Amino acid sequence: MWNHTDDARDVVVVTGAGGMGTAVARRLGSGRTLVLADASREQLDRVVDALRAEGYDARGVLTDVSDRASVEKLARTAADAGRLTAVVHTAGVSAATASVRTILDVDLLGTVYVIEAFEKVAVRGTSLVCVASMAGHMASISAKDESDLATAPAAELLALDPVTALGDDAVAAYILAKRANLVRVQAAALAWSRRGARVNSISPGVIATAMAKAEADGESGEHMLKMIDACGAGRPGTPGEIADAVAFLTGPQAQYITGTDLLVDGGQAAWLHRHMRHG
Ligand SMILES: NC(=O)c1ccc[n+]([C@@H]2O[C@H](COP(=O)([O-])OP(=O)(O)OC[C@H]3O[C@@H](n4cnc5c(N)ncnc54)[C@H](O)[C@@H]3O)[C@@H](O)[C@H]2O)c1
Repeated sequence: MWNHTDDARDVVVVTGAGGMGTAVARRLGSGRTLVLADASREQLDRVVDALRAEGYDARGVLTDVSDRASVEKLARTAADAGRLTAVVHTAGVSAATASVRTILDVDLLGTVYVIEAFEKVAVRGTSLVCVASMAGHMASISAKDESDLATAPAAELLALDPVTALGDDAVAAYILAKRANLVRVQAAALAWSRRGARVNSISPGVIATAMAKAEADGESGEHMLKMIDACGAGRPGTPGEIADAVAFLTGPQAQYITGTDLLVDGGQAAWLHRHMRHG
């Protein structure tokens, strides 16, 4: 398709070529080398082809984020492609379609692998954003369990008490995995700062993507749609609104923001905390 001749380019990595990942790629990718990663060859090829047709210098790297070696290969490939400016981790699964084990492997361990693999190749100015979830703000776990989730080596995470207590409750697994994303990001900030790099998370509420559609069509769909109305938002968020938040967190106006989470949920978590339970 188009020729991209400048080989001293800034590199943007996006894991997950789904609804959010594609919007983020479009928002951040102009004039940069875009490295997209997804476990689905079909999805990856479709999105990379569409982006290339729109003039983006996009390339796909088939990656299973639940496989540490696969994530490390992605990090090396991206670092070799130029100056790593932004890494946006959107690959994930939800309780509507995935088992407890898959949620733990992809959403919990996958995020740990991304934080650790990209820390090794981060340079001054690299900014990582992990997409967690508003669900992570709903977890009620002890300070000790949370601290263990934040700092335990990846190989020990699945043996922690709050994880073994999940049984076959996929919703609880999703909530716990997303809580773990938030505290892993917090815990990682120091190492990233020492490299002159930043790491943050974004917690979306219901965002209109294939994942949210599967939720809406599933068992908890009615509850989810009622919540969108009750919390005052009146609509799901758009992938573009997540891309805007990512652009802010990876951009020059967020240089002093690291180790924290940005809720982009139309007020859903605020409503759940302050109105649904106490109102
Ligand atoms: N859509 C929502 O309402 C919503 C709300 C809160 C949080 N989130 C989170 O946002 C992130 C992005 O979700 P989305 O809405 O774009 O979903 P999506 O289903 O549109 O995209 C997810 C992508 O991740 C890929 N993927 C799944 N497992 C993978 C693996 N092991 N390795 C690599 N890629 C894998 C899928 O192939 C898919 O392309 C997820 O982490 C999700 O949990 C979504």
